[in-house]
Amino acid sequence: MDVMLTEQQRLWREQVAAFARQHVLPEVEAMEQGQFPRTLIAKMGKQGFLGLPIPAVYQGLEADFTTYIIAIHELSKVSATIGVIVSVHTSVVTMPILAFGTTEQKESYVPLLASGQKLGAFCLTEPTAGSDASSIQLRAEQVDEHYILNGTKIFITSGGEAELYLVFAVTDPASAKKNISAFIVEKDTPGFTIGKDEKKMGLHGSKTVTLHFDGVRIPKEQLLGAEGEGFRMAMSSLNAGRIGIAAQSLGIAEAALTEAVTYLKQHPAGLETTIRLGDLAAKLEAAKLLVYQAAAYKEANRPVTKEASMAKLFASRTAVEISTEVIHLLGMDGYTNRYHAERYFRDAKICEIYEGTSEIQRLVICKQLI
Ligand code: CAA
Repeated sequence: MDVMLTEQQRLWREQVAAFARQHVLPEVEAMEQGQFPRTLIAKMGKQGFLGLPIPAVYQGLEADFTTYIIAIHELSKVSATIGVIVSVHTSVVTMPILAFGTTEQKESYVPLLASGQKLGAFCLTEPTAGSDASSIQLRAEQVDEHYILNGTKIFITSGGEAELYLVFAVTDPASAKKNISAFIVEKDTPGFTIGKDEKKMGLHGSKTVTLHFDGVRIPKEQLLGAEGEGFRMAMSSLNAGRIGIAAQSLGIAEAALTEAVTYLKQHPAGLETTIRLGDLAAKLEAAKLLVYQAAAYKEANRPVTKEASMAKLFASRTAVEISTEVIHLLGMDGYTNRYHAERYFRDAKICEIYEGTSEIQRLVICKQLI
């Protein structure tokens, strides 16, 4: 995989890995206890890690998309919680505002997001619209110069902690399916409240909450892109998002495999056990190739829907397989929290669920093939 990276990309990888060792690792335990990594996010903002693929004119680091994916991969080796926070913030909040926003919206929001002064959340899922995202109900009704938002979003990553919310809402319920629009909503807008904070199996440092919109009145200038274009914007943003989650999966898988290798060096096992590492290592490399291929497609502005879904489907499966197998290789040690293996196992599963389940990735791939 290394041969695919430029010298500059390798340097970035070293820099992010060093940051992860020095600043993220000491926070892992606190995040496991449910603490949201505020201080760490501020540090990452100062380093530019919250605006890696964003142009310098908007206070980003202007790195290429592959470098951004390398960063998620490296950060997730140490903490999958940090991986998802960075991925959601960048791929499905900052990048869509940059891609679809007006000059005023870009100037107002992108520098604050890229520098980490504001954290972003992506609000699509609802109680009755998960995989079938186009059946959302949250209503945005235009009244004079404003839109009034009413409804509920669930399972929102970084919800309650984020300052800026990209919210998808139905603007014309009478029209054909998918008349959905996107809105930028600031946290302190009256009528916008934070609901249930989910207790999750893994990713304990990341927030996953319900959001209530009760007559939330926002100026029409907060509409992102054209009315009715929201669904397509959400889908195309999720292409980049899925490559990010695929990179998060790589990080978890690689960390788990590395832990198993170290363990087996210290606790030699029989040949039959040891050679299982061969399969796991080969699967990890195959996943890396798919993820970095998808990143290269995105960077080259080529259609990436199929490649992004393939990368997420395969890398998330690989993370689940490797982290499960590693628990077994470590035996009773793997089942305790003496090692990180059990955390990798708990963190891996969500990669097969959020930003489109594996079934949805298969469906997306099939639609592209046929
Ligand atoms: N890229 C670009 N455009 C896309 C696209 C993609 N990946 N997928 C669909 N579109 C476009 C289509 O081309 C089509 O455009 P036209 O109208 O111009 O032809 C339009 O969107 C509608 O497409 P479909 O007819 O395929 O839409 P559908 O209603 O049948 O649903 C779906 C498609 C793939 C099932 C979609 O609903 C989906 O992706 N569901 C999963 C939802 C999801 O991923 N949610 C993630 C929540 S966010 C999250 O998880 C963040 C987090 O916390 C980490």
